[in-house]
Parts: sequence; C-alpha cells; structure tokens
Amino acid sequence: MTGYVITLATSKGGAGKSTLARNIAAHWLNIGMKVAIIDADPQGSIINRHNPNGELSSLMVIAEPEESVASVIDELKREYNYVIVDTGGFRNRTTVRALVASNLALIPLKPSADDVAGALETHNLIKELNKTPERISNPIKYRMIITMSQQNTVIARHVRAELEQLGYLLLKSEMYHRVAYPESAINGSSPCVSDPDGPAARDINQIIKELVDYL
Ligand SMILES: Nc1ncnc2c1ncn2[C@@H]1O[C@H](COP(=O)(O)OP(=O)(O)OP(=O)(O)O)[C@@H](O)[C@H]1O
Ligand SMILES: [Mg+2]
Repeated sequence: MTGYVITLATSKGGAGKSTLARNIAAHWLNIGMKVAIIDADPQGSIINRHNPNGELSSLMVIAEPEESVASVIDELKREYNYVIVDTGGFRNRTTVRALVASNLALIPLKPSADDVAGALETHNLIKELNKTPERISNPIKYRMIITMSQQNTVIARHVRAELEQLGYLLLKSEMYHRVAYPESAINGSSPCVSDPDGPAARDINQIIKELVDYL
C-alpha cells in the first residue's frame, strides 16, 4: 500500500499542530484505518502523552526528531493508510524533509496576527520547496486551518476573509476552541474516541471530510 502523508507545520508555536495531529489520527483509527504519527518535535508532545495501553493503543507513535524523518516516512507509508507528522521548530532540516515527503501540509493558525504571519511564512517555505527538483513536477499541496476559534466570531471571519482574498487555501471547517481537546490530551486521547458523538468529534469529522478531498 501507499499511505498518505500529512505534515502539520507552522513557524508559530502553540497554533494547534500536536492537537490536530492527535485528533485526526484518532478519527482515522476509529474508522478502522491504520495510522502512524511521527513525532518530529524534539519536545515530544505526542510521544510523551501517548499511552500504549490507553484509548489510542492501536496508534503507532514514533519519535523521529532527526533528519532521517524522510526514510521513516517512506517505510511507514508502505504499512499505514495515514502517516501524520507533527513538527516542532521551523526551517530546520527535519521539518523541511518531512514537508518534502508529504502529500499535504496542514498549516494551523489561531485567529491572531502572529499566527497569520506564521502561516504565511510556512506557505513561503512550501513555495520554495516546490521549486526544488524533488517537488517541481509534483508540488506539495497545502491547506491552512483556523484553530481554537470561537464559533462565528468576527475575528475568525476577518482572518479567513483576508487570507482567502489574498488567494490562500483554507479549509472551510475549523477546529473550534473546545476544552474536550486539552482534557482528553491529558491521557493522550481524543474526543473522537472518548466522546465520539460529542461536538469536538463532530468538528474533526467535518475537517477530515474536507481534507480527504485534497489528498
Ligand atoms: N481546538 C482547541 N481547543 C482548545 N484548546 C486547544 C485547541 N487546540 C489546541 N489547544 C490547546 O492549545 C495549546 C497549544 O496546542 P498544541 O500543543 O496542539 O499546539 P502546537 O502547535 O503543537 O504547539 P508547539 O508549537 O508547542 O508544538 C495546548 O495546550 C492545547 O491543549
Ligand atoms: Mg506541538
């Protein structure tokens, strides 16, 4: 098999990369997919919270905060339907290699000026990588996604309108601010498994429905 590779990246810290990574992984596990997360962040936020005996026990989590991330991706995508890479830092070799090896880059941003700047910087990096021989004929796709928004707030709408007007690609679905995410993260879990009919799981469901069309 050849699985899909999705890398979460942005130069802005705390934008929701690890939370999104864990939750989209949980959604796919829940519907019977084989999923691996590569924790390419030296801080190890995914691997440190992962509980091999917990609700996400069937999730393969591998820490690979090194440049060899590309070969790990290549190996895993032979065996898993989805390989999700959670990055840390920016413009470091690990993040760059992971992006080059991805089908899609997912760029999370909170509705704030700093997060928008981080998303644009990340978009620029992807544009540069798409000029390299490895990706010039098969550019890395990307989507930005608004995170931690309060439903239908002016600021989120404003950020979306501005980015869309400039031609950037955003998911219509957002990862709304919900305490269910940090609560379930304490046990390395996700509302997609602990509360599959709840609002957070519904949001993730929407996000994935949209996302699969772009893979
Ligand atoms: N949709 C959400 N609703 C509520 N809290 C959230 C949401 N997404 C993330 N958080 C919380 O915001 C904080 C930052 O999120 P997260 O760790 O996922 O970001 P990150 O981009 O991975 O950060 P870092 O740059 O440190 O790796 C965490 O405490 C997380 O629990
Ligand atoms: Mg993180």
